[in-house]
Amino acid sequence: MDTTSIWRATAPQTGYALLQSDVSTDVLIIGGGITGVTLALLLAQQGRSVVLLEADAIGSGSTGNSTGNLYETLSQGVHTIASRWDRGVARQVVAQRRAAVDFVESLAGRADCGFRRCNHYLYAISEEQRAGVTQEFTALLQAGCNVRLDTSVPEPLPKPVRDAVVLQGQAQFQPQAYVAHIAGLAVEAGADLYEHSRVIELDQKAKRAATATGAVKAQEVVMATHTPKGFHVVQAEMPVHREYGIARPLTGADPGPGVFWYRGNDRFSVRTMQWQGRSFLVGVGQEHKLGTHNAKASLMVLEGAIEKQFGAGEVSHRWSAQNYRSADGLPYIGRDFSGCFIATGFSTDGLVWGTVAAQIMAEQLMGRSPEFGELCKPGRFSPVKGGKAMLDEVGTMTMSLVKDYLTHRQGEQLSTLAPEDSAIIEADGESFAAYRAPDGELFAVSAVCTHLGCKVHWNSVETSWDCPCHGSRFRPDGTVIDGPAIAPLKRKQLNVA
Ligand SMILES: Cc1cc2nc3c(=O)[nH]c(=O)nc-3n(C[C@H](O)[C@H](O)[C@H](O)COP(=O)(O)OP(=O)(O)OC[C@H]3O[C@@H](n4cnc5c(N)ncnc54)[C@H](O)[C@@H]3O)c2cc1C
Ligand code: FES
Repeated sequence: MDTTSIWRATAPQTGYALLQSDVSTDVLIIGGGITGVTLALLLAQQGRSVVLLEADAIGSGSTGNSTGNLYETLSQGVHTIASRWDRGVARQVVAQRRAAVDFVESLAGRADCGFRRCNHYLYAISEEQRAGVTQEFTALLQAGCNVRLDTSVPEPLPKPVRDAVVLQGQAQFQPQAYVAHIAGLAVEAGADLYEHSRVIELDQKAKRAATATGAVKAQEVVMATHTPKGFHVVQAEMPVHREYGIARPLTGADPGPGVFWYRGNDRFSVRTMQWQGRSFLVGVGQEHKLGTHNAKASLMVLEGAIEKQFGAGEVSHRWSAQNYRSADGLPYIGRDFSGCFIATGFSTDGLVWGTVAAQIMAEQLMGRSPEFGELCKPGRFSPVKGGKAMLDEVGTMTMSLVKDYLTHRQGEQLSTLAPEDSAIIEADGESFAAYRAPDGELFAVSAVCTHLGCKVHWNSVETSWDCPCHGSRFRPDGTVIDGPAIAPLKRKQLNVA
């Protein structure tokens, strides 16, 4: 299945070169999503020498697979910050995020990034979800948001049970086009950007990173990789969730600009986007803990739910991406015990958090100490604020270490594995993750994640082996796609056709 998001399919190609030599720089940024590219721009504008290494293409990670909404609130609700921290912190969060949306607007300028101001709607479509929405309305008011209640939402969205919370002055854009645009600004300001330059070795102490074709020695290293590479304490506190997105031409009534979040048995985020004179409907939902569910089934449920609400229509784009949720609701931004800078724990709010992170880290790398940076420092550990999430996470990891889920088949014979089939196979006393490609080629790799040893699980939508513990993902041949793992899964030569 083609899993290119509508953003990646419609944005201009960037086409930066591969790193092909050994270079040195002030700041090495690993990762070319919104966090890394914004930081490269801010540092280059202040005269720092910057090298950015991106494993794939600029924006190809979570940024280019998001929903493209920009808002001062949070997907888990501002009330979670008010209750885990206090109302003062909730106000700071909202103010910081509002300023970041203004900053994005200033950079998007007149570029073709689809930036538009709009309202954000949050509402319940089932009686059970109503109390949560009411609670969030109060928290938003107390946090200083420009918010009101409305009994109706634009057609043909599902009707709210009682009121919808309408947060004014929010925004949306084409995230891939935006990040490509600011990458151009970063290069103009003097940053060196490299694509298809995956870091495969990282010496955090020596601040040296190597790709297959070159190396970078730096004074400072920033891991803008969505979750940091290698072992970091914060990984133990962050559950990893995968979520699905679809886009289809908009054929019926057009709800117009707006971030629409509605909650029933499931949570949905819906928006529209325009491209070359055509309108598309974008729907995102079906969030699950990574590696513990059937990806194809999740996508089908999402498609069915959108069809039920908006009528039949041909889905033109399908994709998925993952998010890392911090234990206490705030992201982890800044220098961690490894000596490198990290920026993670953004949940599904990281287009704004990533911008905030870049602003904070740029300040810190220029020797300043922004106040909000203190709240987000990675070294904090708040067992009370994050207690439950932490316990849930330890539970997931323990389960993954000791047992397999039913989302992939076991006890299968390699010889009976059909094209496009996968299975965990016991051979030579070891567990292997096997997949047969459509052309018949058989791939067998170790089923043990190279990060910290959990067992990987099959993702049928993206043809990958995913690790439920901290989000590493691998291609059928074992190469790393995503997550904290640096080393590939060990390839196994099997004497079976
Ligand atoms: C389905 C979904 C919808 C979302 N919608 C929204 C939304 O509407 N609004 C919002 O604010 N947030 C949203 N988010 C969250 C948001 O997309 C992310 O938090 C944000 O994009 C993170 O940006 P980033 O730059 O930190 O990471 P990424 O965009 O993932 O960038 C990290 C980059 O690092 C690169 N990389 C990784 N390993 C290496 C390596 N070894 N060497 C070199 N490069 C490497 C990757 O290729 C990648 O390009 C959504 C998330 C999901 C899952
Ligand atoms: S991602 Fe940490 S063990 Fe797999």
